[in-house]
Amino acid sequence: MVVQTSSRAAYKISGRGASRIAASIEAGIAAGHLAPGQALPPIRDLAAELEVNPNTVSAAYRLLRDRGAVETAGRRGTRVREQPATAPRNLDFPIPADAKDLVNGNPDRRLLPELVFPRGISQRLYKGETILPSLLTAARERFAADGVPAEHVVPAFGAGDAIDRVLSAHLRTGDTVAVEDPGWGAVYHLLPAMGLAAVPVPIDAEGMTPQGLAAALNRGARAVIITSRAQNPTGAAVTARRAEELRTLLAAHPDVLLIEDDHGADITPHFGLNTLTGATTHWAHIRSLSKAYGPDLRCAITAADATTAARVAGRLRLGAGWVSQVIQDQVHRLWTDERVEKQIAEAARAYTERREALIAALAARGIAAQGVSGINVWIPVPEEAVVVSGLLAAGWAVAPGAWFRAGSAPGVRITVSNLDLAEVEPLADAFAAVLSASGSGGAV
Ligand SMILES: Cc1ncc(COP(=O)(O)O)c(C=O)c1O
Repeated sequence: MVVQTSSRAAYKISGRGASRIAASIEAGIAAGHLAPGQALPPIRDLAAELEVNPNTVSAAYRLLRDRGAVETAGRRGTRVREQPATAPRNLDFPIPADAKDLVNGNPDRRLLPELVFPRGISQRLYKGETILPSLLTAARERFAADGVPAEHVVPAFGAGDAIDRVLSAHLRTGDTVAVEDPGWGAVYHLLPAMGLAAVPVPIDAEGMTPQGLAAALNRGARAVIITSRAQNPTGAAVTARRAEELRTLLAAHPDVLLIEDDHGADITPHFGLNTLTGATTHWAHIRSLSKAYGPDLRCAITAADATTAARVAGRLRLGAGWVSQVIQDQVHRLWTDERVEKQIAEAARAYTERREALIAALAARGIAAQGVSGINVWIPVPEEAVVVSGLLAAGWAVAPGAWFRAGSAPGVRITVSNLDLAEVEPLADAFAAVLSASGSGGAV
């Protein structure tokens, strides 16, 4: 069957059995011929075209759904997922070379510490420890300073990987997970790829709302993922008061798996951690190195209860084996070098300055923006597409809130990590101009 693709080229779906048809669609997605959000042909049409039984096409679509390649949304039919789990790369919108990229969520390369690999580093062989002893000691000190119990510590390949592994250690297909709404897009894509369903929970500047979490727990959520600080996309940070409220709720559901994502720990020193760990039997506190030290380290260190840590480490051993000790040694160096510590403190200060400058500039134009911590500013807007395309035309690429939300109100995300202070006023002017041109005035 020929499907009109977004690039106006046509893609021909082929095959006679369910797995062949699914493979043909998967290949089209991987090659970019079938775009994110694009509708697949109605089952009956494709069945007629391929001269197969509709049940065969239906089975093919089910296979693709189970692999996280497509989603079925009632009357909207079956569509390619925004970040299909079968595509080898991100399928974000292309940003013109002359636009300023405030979309990608990267740290500022100039504020990252240099990676220095010592000569003559000793090689780890098979059958060693999961975690380098020196890194274990450094991690325990960091976790203890923040009140996180750290008897059991496991490295993984970043926070996303750690979340994947911790969920796999406890949940089964069909289970539901309470997630922040708006929240980290990667989690919204990961869950369906794992056969899990998201239960969106509203958040405010202090984190998940207690009413929202209570509703999700009452609906039977088996796990909850909470960002401690530098929440993506709103910059929320869990306050002591909120942590207390959420702990009380979780304590009444001790079987719920708690995943705490503290990826902003090192770039948010002005917000002390208010951990929820210990409120449930099974929990994991994940600290990614990506934002402060560099995403290419692909490393996050997780403290967890004994069972969770043993399952994650045991499963890791059977597949990937371990996180290279070349990387672990680097993480240890970065976490214990005083010069690096000063550099990271400077990066945190710079990000705070950029974030606060943008929020103030928008406020001066009557535009309310959120972002108490981290590298993102979230701005509620009436029409995301109008604002995103209007800003793009003015040379500013920002992220549509749709990437991060389920049922929450529209907004856009501006990542400020690469925003120069000199760009703040022109950006705020462009924002105000786009809003007033769209007829929504300044305040939203
Ligand atoms: C909420 C959140 N957690 C963690 C991360 C870092 O993920 P990783 O460690 O997999 O690079 C990000 C990156 O954008 C994030 O937004």
